[in-house]
Amino acid sequence: MTDDFGRNINYLRVSVTDLCQFRCIYCIPENGIKQLDHKELLSLEEIYTVIREFTMLGVDKIRFTGGEPLVRKGILGLVESVSRLEKIKDIAMTTNGALLEKMAVPLRKSGLHRVNISLDTLNEKKFRDVTRTGELSEVIRGVEAAKNAGLGVKFNVVLMKDFNDDEIMDLIELTRIYDADVRFIELMPIGENQGYAKANFMACEEILKVAELRPVESDDPHAPTRYYRYGNAKGRVGFITALSSHFCGDCNRIRLTSDGKLKPCLHSNQEIDLRSAIRRSEDLREIISAAIKSKPEKHYLSENRIIDRGMSRIGG
Ligand code: 5AD
Ligand code: SF4
Repeated sequence: MTDDFGRNINYLRVSVTDLCQFRCIYCIPENGIKQLDHKELLSLEEIYTVIREFTMLGVDKIRFTGGEPLVRKGILGLVESVSRLEKIKDIAMTTNGALLEKMAVPLRKSGLHRVNISLDTLNEKKFRDVTRTGELSEVIRGVEAAKNAGLGVKFNVVLMKDFNDDEIMDLIELTRIYDADVRFIELMPIGENQGYAKANFMACEEILKVAELRPVESDDPHAPTRYYRYGNAKGRVGFITALSSHFCGDCNRIRLTSDGKLKPCLHSNQEIDLRSAIRRSEDLREIISAAIKSKPEKHYLSENRIIDRGMSRIGG
């Protein structure tokens, strides 16, 4: 369905947990985050119900996110039931890749099409530094498993000054090694880690100074990514520049948090409580329609407003 600004909202991002076995420095504070009480989380059945209602309103593309979606028990069953919904055309997942070695084949069999794997560095020590608890080799095995299982693979790299700006060329090489897109994401000042984000921000434009890239047409007019090609690599290099609002006018997405709040815009504190609505047996479809209509025209990040909810509580 379309919102008040004529945008067709067909893409729902679903966070199934805000837990993660990693604690990336820009995402989760060192001591972790307070675990939500079980009752506060949507059950898998409730998540399925919300997704089904969204498909009735024109959503045909789902992305599961976290925290880390693969740590949620029962995730395979949820993927499978969603893949059986008649209107669904595309099911993707954003993951840190650590559990993919084990889960790539079952995920593909359950109907998942694609994964975006977070990979900020190719150096084992730096990988431990940025994730605090992660092992690079485990993720690399996960990448191989996903490719072998026939899942589409893209890489997400958060660009950080004084951290991975010396690895830009190596990370771009992944477009050749894995025939996969590598998307550089500008560090966003969200949640508790605003200090780090401000100190280490680096604009994607800077990449053009060190790598010879040719712009290419995007195959998806709604994607907030500008794409380039490096040499004859099959994969593309993408820039995700969150702080510029140039793509708000094309935004086709809406988000569901693991505690059952709808967020019409990532960069706004506006939330609609679907969990209470479900538990009071209210008319979900009506509430969701109203939420879509209320999606803000654009975000206000550049005006220095603070977004309360950290990324692990939204799902990127
Ligand atoms: N800025 C930019 N990207 C972030 N992510 C998490 N926190 C931030 C942030 N503050 C990214 C992760 C992953 C996705 C889930 O969101 O790297 O690719
Ligand atoms: Fe986990 Fe992803 Fe956050 Fe890292 S960025 S802590 S992998 S949710």
